[in-house]
Amino acid sequence: QPEPAAPSQCVGPEYRPDTQKPTATVSTEVSHENVHILPQTPQLIALLTMIRDKNTGRADFIFYSNRIIRLLVEEGLNHLPVIEHTISTPVGRSYSGVKFEGKICGVSIMRAGEAMEQGLRDCCRSVRIGKILIQRDEETSKPKLFYDKLPEDIADRWVLLLDPMLATGGSALMAVDVLKSRGVPEERILFLNLIASPEGAVNFANKFPKVRVVTAFVDIGLNEKNYIVPGLGDFGDRFYTM
Ligand code: PRP
Ligand code: URA
Repeated sequence: QPEPAAPSQCVGPEYRPDTQKPTATVSTEVSHENVHILPQTPQLIALLTMIRDKNTGRADFIFYSNRIIRLLVEEGLNHLPVIEHTISTPVGRSYSGVKFEGKICGVSIMRAGEAMEQGLRDCCRSVRIGKILIQRDEETSKPKLFYDKLPEDIADRWVLLLDPMLATGGSALMAVDVLKSRGVPEERILFLNLIASPEGAVNFANKFPKVRVVTAFVDIGLNEKNYIVPGLGDFGDRFYTM
């Protein structure tokens, strides 16, 4: 049994060895090359701890979720293509840099996915955003598609698909089917997600191996109602109505 870390050791990105971290703060590994889990830094884990806490009220839930969403968007943008771009600096030097190539748009899975739109707008000025309304049946957990409204030229864009919760994976799979039916190739879809269950992440990666997933955390599993555990409860309710 490893010795508990002394307080003076709880500093820095490797604030404790993995064996000494609380199990719920170490993401379950998912062995699919297109599932990218954010680095499990103390900051990220502290933010997740805030939003997992049932005693966190709505204002703090929104504030801390938004901070994680911002990290997800910033990481997601790293997966978009860039081309070489050389500029001149004010001191007369040239700098061989890069710039983004290609058009993007966001697509949120309503309702909870809409909570991620602002984070995307904060990073991508005037980004176009489409919507897909999918709701999970409370009894069966099966997703139902009600509505979609997407940019007309979506087939020519990279799509950042937004939904904070990936539980069984049913809703996200249905959303990708909608995008594919509009001509978006799998390899141009990037799914940004806050918490995934291992089974949801694996279902998703098996069905759509070319869709990249960027998630902040892969939890332990699902409960009998197909809620993620330890999870954070119903994201949409906590962000919008509770
Ligand atoms: C939640 C969540 C996902 C879905 C995940 O939405 O935002 O869309 O459930 O579950 P799944 O992976 O098992 O499909 P919900 O349908 O509860 O609606 P909401 O966004 O209005 O809360
Ligand atoms: N939707 C949520 O909001 N939370 C879960 O744990 C599962 C689905």
